[in-house]
Amino acid sequence: MQIEGSVALVTGANRGIGRALAQELVDRGASKVYAAARHPEQIDLPGVVPLRLDITTPEQVAEAARVASDTTLLINNAGVTTYAPLVTGDLSDIRREMDTNYLGTLSVVRAFAPVLAANGGGAILNVLSVMAWLGYEHSNGYGASKAALWALTNGVRVELASQGTQVTGLVLASTDTDMMAGFDVPKNRPEDVARAALDGVDAGRLEVLADADSVALKAALSRDPSETYPKVVGAA
Ligand SMILES: NC(=O)c1ccc[n+]([C@@H]2O[C@H](COP(=O)([O-])OP(=O)(O)OC[C@H]3O[C@@H](n4cnc5c(N)ncnc54)[C@H](OP(=O)(O)O)[C@@H]3O)[C@@H](O)[C@H]2O)c1
Repeated sequence: MQIEGSVALVTGANRGIGRALAQELVDRGASKVYAAARHPEQIDLPGVVPLRLDITTPEQVAEAARVASDTTLLINNAGVTTYAPLVTGDLSDIRREMDTNYLGTLSVVRAFAPVLAANGGGAILNVLSVMAWLGYEHSNGYGASKAALWALTNGVRVELASQGTQVTGLVLASTDTDMMAGFDVPKNRPEDVARAALDGVDAGRLEVLADADSVALKAALSRDPSETYPKVVGAA
């Protein structure tokens, strides 16, 4: 998958990591960048094509696939977190995370799969999170939705292989966007995440670990849970 000359579509491109991805695509010579957003009037990047897209609205997803029928690179970046814990959080918050991060992304993948096939195969990049791999004091509804998205990424990679579509998962930890504004922790720069992501797509990689925390948590998947969660051992 060559970024240069590609026709890319980024969901949630009005701010944060999506905006950085759209900017990086323009800088790398994508021939067209659809900057999709719930409120396209908020798109402030020169050189992109604004497109209205709420990924939880089926009519808008279908219309986006019709309008952006020349897309060769689909970037599923749009996502929400409500920080809800699973046991005491509001179920409507947990449902919204699943509806957006998992089912919304799935509906975009389903709508664009024939578009990518018609354009030679192309590629999909899904923006995951280390929270798919880590239980935490809160945000576990979000984590569950990202774990579902991880499984989705692996599944559609296999399902779309025969049409030549490359499917890459981007895993990242805390990054300096509105989503993490309330947390005083070390954060990646969105531009650095965007560069790592597109380097990975360009190189044909199936997974991009954007930072050291993502690398460490990937490695921890092979450990016994008692090593990853030492504080819970003996607490029950
Ligand atoms: N920041 C982090 O630390 C971090 C870490 C790991 C993964 N991520 C992931 O990175 C992606 C981008 O997040 P961010 O950090 O850039 O957060 P952000 O600044 O909160 O941006 C989220 C973007 O998603 C859009 N969005 C939300 N719901 C949508 C919907 N139903 N349809 C279309 N667009 C929708 C938002 O649009 P509106 O402006 O209309 O709300 C916004 O453009 C997300 O998938 C997030 O889970 C972020």
